[in-house]
Amino acid sequence: MTSTPLLNIEGLRTYFYSRSKQAFIRSVDNVSLAIARGETLGVVGESGSGKSVTALSVMGLITAAPGVISGRIEFTSGGVARNLLENLDRYVQLTEEHGRIMGVAKDAAGWRKNAEHLLGRVRGKEIGMIFQNPKAALNPFTTVGKQIAEVVQLHTSHKGVGEARERAIHWLERVKIDSPRLRYDNHPFGLSGGMCQRAMIAMALSSEPSLLIADEPTTGLDATIQSKIVDLLAELKQDIGITTMLISHDISVIKRLSDRVAVMYGGTVVENGPAAEILAGDAASRHPYTAALLASIPNETHVREKTPLLAIEGEVLDTINTPAGCRFYARCNRVTDKIRQQCERCEPDLREIEPGHRVRCWLYFD
Ligand SMILES: Nc1ncnc2c1ncn2[C@@H]1O[C@H](COP(=O)(O)OP(=O)(O)OP(=O)(O)O)[C@@H](O)[C@H]1O
Ligand code: SF4
Ligand SMILES: [Mg+2]
Repeated sequence: MTSTPLLNIEGLRTYFYSRSKQAFIRSVDNVSLAIARGETLGVVGESGSGKSVTALSVMGLITAAPGVISGRIEFTSGGVARNLLENLDRYVQLTEEHGRIMGVAKDAAGWRKNAEHLLGRVRGKEIGMIFQNPKAALNPFTTVGKQIAEVVQLHTSHKGVGEARERAIHWLERVKIDSPRLRYDNHPFGLSGGMCQRAMIAMALSSEPSLLIADEPTTGLDATIQSKIVDLLAELKQDIGITTMLISHDISVIKRLSDRVAVMYGGTVVENGPAAEILAGDAASRHPYTAALLASIPNETHVREKTPLLAIEGEVLDTINTPAGCRFYARCNRVTDKIRQQCERCEPDLREIEPGHRVRCWLYFD
């Protein structure tokens, strides 16, 4: 990546405190990733790997304490890169042992006030978000058209009621809602799931953001509607070229839309690089977790030859007692005698193995 990325996350840590277990859940634990302007970064990983918490941290939408506690979220706006977590570390005191955070004392009110000042400016305006459940995200008491027009008035130069309305209709047309002028006056309950998702995409785009975060935009929709929403996202990518962080369980969606892919496991990124390389299917060239993840997804050969799918054996990582070594060690089938001790005792860094392709695995370090 040569130019400054639009979004550059470094060493992000977002923990929650579990009162019942009296311990920290390390939901996001040292996440680093970057998205260049115009590209779509697909984020994959099994349930609980920290994909949504990463997205919500960028949006400043983590409410439970301690929440986001450290790292950098650099976002470029008007040609200037700003750290959205700037100076917030003064509200947090971390107790570390052997480089690991064991305790957090946080002035939550001070953090919230200042984080709101930094993040509130970009949320919904420069960074738009699409959630999994559009019906829950839209206000049930206001028509979808009005909700979009409000965003237009708040965040763009179209301030007049009439022009905001026309602009909202433009976005409803843009996302191919049939009869957009009629739909403008519908409440969310009057729309199908697919139409609601289109309306939410229209709302996210209507502030003309430079970054769109789509968290499972097709999950929960019927299969035919899913593929129509993917077609729409592909068209919008082609036409508007908006920079996107696309979180999805569905590798076929990731394959279709992503330029680059980040694979998350146990709260961190274990691999990232060009989508074509990561999703190519050559098991030897990538992180053992990525290989296991891809092998667990049905492909045409599985369907045609009725071969059984490989399950990823072992338990999902305990994000409270994360191991000192590689997070994937307990489930990894590629550990060799040469690296066993390192795998068990030290967590590998995310290192570049080819230009623009990084892997967090001792197998690739000399
Ligand atoms: N508010 C919260 N309080 C406590 N723990 C939380 C909270 N939000 C998320 N977590 C925990 O953080 C971890 C990561 O959650 P996250 O929602 O980011 O996973 P995900 O990768 O998006 O999974 P999925 O694919 O199921 O959406 C999980 O163990 C989850 O239980
Ligand atoms: S570092 Fe070791 S345990 Fe971890 S993924 Fe690589 S080979 Fe497996
Ligand atoms: Mg999620």
